[in-house]
Amino acid sequence: MKILIINGPNLNMLGIREPDIYGSQDFRALQRFIYDSCKQEGIEPILFQSNHEGAIVDRIQASYGEVDGIVINPAAYTHTSVAILDALKAVAIPAVEVHLSNVNERESFRQISYPGMACIKSFVGLGFEGYRQAILFMKDFLQNK
Ligand code: DQA
Repeated sequence: MKILIINGPNLNMLGIREPDIYGSQDFRALQRFIYDSCKQEGIEPILFQSNHEGAIVDRIQASYGEVDGIVINPAAYTHTSVAILDALKAVAIPAVEVHLSNVNERESFRQISYPGMACIKSFVGLGFEGYRQAILFMKDFLQNK
């Protein structure tokens, strides 16, 4: 089972970026956490981070026929990107959305998620643990489909 884990803009600044909201652990720690969570479940992870919307669209397209599932934190593109939504719909690979913070309890502009409309489930406000929950959910979903 192969899963592509996508992290969007500014997540590479974890640890420096608004630690009161996103915590003090850095992006390297997140990548390691995701990698270890996948390995524990016997999943082959592909980790991808970009600050560029088109690069994320390109990576989703390239994953067609390559991966079984996608876990995505589109970061700020969550609230703006019809292009990422359309890319997820185009490849029709099962996708799960993750947000470190609880976007539901933040500013009104964070209340909409375009990519989330193509996702089977969202995990919000759980910090790093949200990625592990998303990976476990994806494994269960793929095994039972
Ligand atoms: C985020 C929430 C988004 O609203 C924000 O733009 C981010 C991170 C999160 O993980 O909590 O960059 O996706």
